[in-house]
Amino acid sequence: MLEKFKNVAVIGAGTMGMGIAEVAATAGHNVKVYDLNSDFAEKSKQKMMDRLNSRVQRGKISEELSQLISNHVSIVKTLSELSDSHLVIEAIVENLEIKQNLFKELQEICNVNTFYTTNTSSISVTAIASVLNQPENMIGLHFFNPAPVMQLVEVIAGLKSAQENLEAGLELCRSWKKMPVLAESTPGFIVNRVARPFYGEALKMLQEQVSNHQTIDTIMQSAGFRMGPFELMDLIGIDVNLSVSKTVYQEMFYDPRYKPSLIQQEMVYAGMLGRKSGQGFYDYQNSEQSDCVGYENLQKFDEDISNPFEKLNEHSEIEIDGCLVVLSNGQTCSQRQKSKPIAQFDLCLDYEKAEVLTLSFAGNFPQEIQQKIVALAQNTGKQVVVIDDNPALIAMRTVCMLINEAADAIENGVCSREAVDLAMQKGVNYPIGLIDWAEKLGFDKVVETLDNLYQWFGDDRYRTSSWLRKQIL
Ligand SMILES: NC(=O)c1ccc[n+]([C@@H]2O[C@H](COP(=O)([O-])OP(=O)(O)OC[C@H]3O[C@@H](n4cnc5c(N)ncnc54)[C@H](O)[C@@H]3O)[C@@H](O)[C@H]2O)c1
Repeated sequence: MLEKFKNVAVIGAGTMGMGIAEVAATAGHNVKVYDLNSDFAEKSKQKMMDRLNSRVQRGKISEELSQLISNHVSIVKTLSELSDSHLVIEAIVENLEIKQNLFKELQEICNVNTFYTTNTSSISVTAIASVLNQPENMIGLHFFNPAPVMQLVEVIAGLKSAQENLEAGLELCRSWKKMPVLAESTPGFIVNRVARPFYGEALKMLQEQVSNHQTIDTIMQSAGFRMGPFELMDLIGIDVNLSVSKTVYQEMFYDPRYKPSLIQQEMVYAGMLGRKSGQGFYDYQNSEQSDCVGYENLQKFDEDISNPFEKLNEHSEIEIDGCLVVLSNGQTCSQRQKSKPIAQFDLCLDYEKAEVLTLSFAGNFPQEIQQKIVALAQNTGKQVVVIDDNPALIAMRTVCMLINEAADAIENGVCSREAVDLAMQKGVNYPIGLIDWAEKLGFDKVVETLDNLYQWFGDDRYRTSSWLRKQIL
């Protein structure tokens, strides 16, 4: 790959362009970087070198490698200097017309065999490639931020992309020590599409007052995610997150599954953009934050019985004094209870490691038994959070919707099952592949939960993917 694509042009010297230039230079390519603003490009290269030098000082990389990268990356001031490029990686502003104009100009300058790629995160690769005389020469290479660190690259097939170019894209990424996954040019590709419910359900639950944002974050972290949805949205930027949601919603022809949140829209109007503006869901200027509110600590439970919460897993059915405690299934406890009063617990990937256990009870659940259940759960050393009787609680609702989206992506030919599981782990650090999680939980349980949510809300957003139904035939 190094021989085939010796000369690489990176266009756009921003966050992504400079990171990608570093990756290509590390692999030994000659990289020319062009940006409309060449002073900015020079500064951007200097910042990259400062980062690399600090890594040299910390003993993370050798002085030689840092020097090699510096020697291999040069800033050019005109597009015409890119005429000898074998491979072009475009990482400029996310705007179809501007990207198309750039490629129109490039094909006048570069060789007819030049391999064109775009790092777009949301625009159709087919649409960008449509201005080329040879659209088969273009594919998407969607890197994740920061490009030198994140292993995942989505290799995107435009409708006219040549198979051999897709294969070259995959091989190139592997030669750069990345983990490529193949995806069709569809809105949000894999990661930005499949992750939508992580934010969307959290925002909808906040709007429905299922709980507050701190509690939802704590519960989602305890379920197995590295960060809660609200702290993650604050990190990404509320405006950036809303803009991706809006694009996917529009491009999906206003499918209600992707409907953006009014809460986010209002926050953008107010300039509450997250960490970068000092205020998002959390306040970054004022360090004191209110916390997740757990159930008061009850007396240590000293009855001489084995504690059924010690061995809790998603399949547990605990019976205490004639009452059942089970994993939520998309119904409320009140809907679900028949002969016995029902309490539901929320989903965790690993109940032993989870620090928080979330429970909900039907309105008429016997008080003294509720106290006993909470006390037993607390006796395992966990914080117990009791939320109102809502369908599918918090983590179960979110994870089933994420699984549903992953299943739809497979069903609609966006990517393979293996690709979606790898992409979500390597692109956004999910603790397990979503389809693997569905298998652990039971596809029947996921379908049951989604069907119940659909019935409860009467909203097409919750329709169950037929791919999931096929798994239980
Ligand atoms: N930031 C991310 O997390 C991320 C992740 C994956 C993909 N992307 C995608 O990568 C692309 C770049 O994003 P970014 O975050 O690096 O943006 P950025 O704003 O940091 O950088 C964009 C750069 O492109 C330059 N530019 C704009 N128009 C140009 C033109 N016509 N010719 C040459 N240079 C031009 C700008 O001067 C700027 O320096 C976008 O398509 C974005 O959607 C971003």
